[in-house]
Amino acid sequence: MSKKITLTIDGKQAEVNPGISIYWAAKSVGVEIPHLCYEEDLPAISSCRLCVVEVEGTKNLPASCSHPAVAGMVVHTTSERVQKARRINLDLILSDHKIECITCEKSGSCALERYAYEFGIAEPRFSGEKNDLPVDEDNPFIERDYGKCILCGRCVLACAEIQYDSAIDYAGRGFGAHISTAFNRPLDQTTCEFCGLCISVCPVGALTEKDRRKMGREWELKKNHTICPYCGCGCTLEVNVHDGKVVKVMAPTGREANKNTVNKGNLCVKGKFGLRYLNHGDRLRAPLIKKNGAFEEASWDDALDLVARRLGEIKEKHGADALGGLSSAKCTNEENYIFQKFMRACIGTNNVDHCARLCHASTVAGLARAFGSGAMTNSIGELRFVDCFFVTGSNTTEAHPIIGLEIKAAVQKHGAKLIIADPREIDLVRFATLWLRHKNGTDVALFNGIMHVIIEEGLEDSSFVAERTEDYEKFKAVVKDYTPEKAEAITEVPRAQIVEAARIYAQAGTSSIIYSMGITQHTTGTDNVLSLANLAMLTG
Ligand code: FES
Repeated sequence: MSKKITLTIDGKQAEVNPGISIYWAAKSVGVEIPHLCYEEDLPAISSCRLCVVEVEGTKNLPASCSHPAVAGMVVHTTSERVQKARRINLDLILSDHKIECITCEKSGSCALERYAYEFGIAEPRFSGEKNDLPVDEDNPFIERDYGKCILCGRCVLACAEIQYDSAIDYAGRGFGAHISTAFNRPLDQTTCEFCGLCISVCPVGALTEKDRRKMGREWELKKNHTICPYCGCGCTLEVNVHDGKVVKVMAPTGREANKNTVNKGNLCVKGKFGLRYLNHGDRLRAPLIKKNGAFEEASWDDALDLVARRLGEIKEKHGADALGGLSSAKCTNEENYIFQKFMRACIGTNNVDHCARLCHASTVAGLARAFGSGAMTNSIGELRFVDCFFVTGSNTTEAHPIIGLEIKAAVQKHGAKLIIADPREIDLVRFATLWLRHKNGTDVALFNGIMHVIIEEGLEDSSFVAERTEDYEKFKAVVKDYTPEKAEAITEVPRAQIVEAARIYAQAGTSSIIYSMGITQHTTGTDNVLSLANLAMLTG
């Protein structure tokens, strides 16, 4: 680790790692520098010049978000020169910005509004031509009001650097510069996934949720943290509520959130925009009891009394096994636990099941037999450090989008290899090193073919196999049969690709297998899982 450097910021000694920006050096000693275009999780674009600081001995005022801290520097973040420059920069930004704070949905959380207030700018000093850009509402979720856009580029960077979608970018030159989709197409005709990240990083009112309009001012919103009810990623949501209604859904951000949440400030379309149904007028708000063929509203006491009485009567007359209970992955683990207790201990039957039987049973059976536990062996956060992914039967970016983000980040940022074994051209194929398009139902033959090559070429982890596995010789005898030629004949994957997949997977430092219902919901689901467990164990 390189030696720390020391510099002085507003009279405070900062000791920091070399290479970090003045902005972060200042932050390390509790000095907050105003910033508009810089978003802490993204690279600095340095377009707003609001974060300028004065460095003793230099002529210009550098942008602290991108200028590196240097040993011995003496920095002033609030000198008269700095404040004057910031004021002019703010004035310039405001001179081409719709001043509609009274009705703007971002009022109260808008960074430009906050800085204008702090610098006492009621109206911009500079007058002249203003861009007159229309409000874009050509999609179901996002309102794009480019008259309020300050061209900070945060949305462009977030879309490209976190989502890897690049649905938007700068277009035009000079005064005509604006943010646009390719050929100005409607958002839903681009690669946009409607994750809403652009809204979260937009520091002004240019990007907002369409359905939050007139639902409440920012300062009226009560923020509740909860876990997303959709896929199994377990993302933390910050549900903003006003007047008993969900106004918008955000993800907690900042260093604490990055450490403690799975989604690290990100959401997918389901978590971001999929909770609108909570506000729907047709939702049940009270129990309904059918009387004379029609449902009537009832109190909870009446409804629960009725259910308890009828369950008791049926049990009395026909025995406990005449009753059955079905639970769901939409409930929490705790609720499911209580439900099975209720059926078993209270009703007295084992007739209790769960929707996960369809998607998860083969994993529980396969992984529990292979590893002793029928669940993921690693955490989502570890995926970012993987050297090679083998993804099969999982349309990850669609089914588990936040895990998809981790895979994309590992490939794009750390150069991880990505092998996809899937007949479908899923979105991850865009990032793949190798795409094996095998015939439906030939998963085991494909995995056996890969393992055959690994053993033939001596790429297995012999000490792991010797110390931690059983029946290796029996396994080896089965796999011996699956030459690349035979695997090709069964799977229709060219033998050269099977060999290449085996080499990439086995030679990577850390390889991770990602699978999902594309291999479990088969008549051979458990065998598919066991076969993948063998692949993992074979290479340690
Ligand atoms: Fe540094 Fe905009 S925040 S230039």
